[in-house]
Amino acid sequence: MLVQAVLPAAAARAESPQVLYMLHCQGCHLPDGGGSPGSVPSLTREIGRFLDAPGGRAFLVRVPGSFDSPLDDAELASVLNWMIGRFDPGVTFVPYTAHEVAGYRGEPLTDVEGLRAELLDAIARRELSPPGPSRASREADEARESDRSPR
Ligand code: HEC
Repeated sequence: MLVQAVLPAAAARAESPQVLYMLHCQGCHLPDGGGSPGSVPSLTREIGRFLDAPGGRAFLVRVPGSFDSPLDDAELASVLNWMIGRFDPGVTFVPYTAHEVAGYRGEPLTDVEGLRAELLDAIARRELSPPGPSRASREADEARESDRSPR
């Protein structure tokens, strides 16, 4: 009997990633991820590109909106995975786990804008290489390329 009484309450507590996004993130990022030009960057077809840049996975966790949210590490992992799939469909990526998020969350970013600019710069340089059928094969091509001509 006790179990029956407790289970629905526990299930109700575990909000879906979409609900967590609505509660904690969409006030700034908006329901469609579009943000506000000049203050909140658009996530639409933009968020996935960070995953390719060195340090980019950590960045998505360490921006203040993620880092300072009341979400626990598992919730933040699920919201980020949901956001990437929702706002940048077609991106193939390794989903975040609570463990990975916890590691990045150890330390906040001190210069968010500076790091963001660096990442975008690194991404822009990568995007100059011809687009391949998928990011993964592009990465593999780049790896072979740098084997031949070390920078
Ligand atoms: C108070 C407004 C605000 C809220 C609330 C907010 N964010 Fe953000 N978010 C921003 C701003 C502004 C940026 C740009 C980087 C920066 O200056 O922090 C950003 C950047 C991001 C980025 C990196 C994308 C990029 O292009 O820089 C991610 C990922 C992100 N936020 C996730 C979240 C998540 C997850 C939540 C909810 C748990 C959330 N944000 C809540 C304002 C917000």
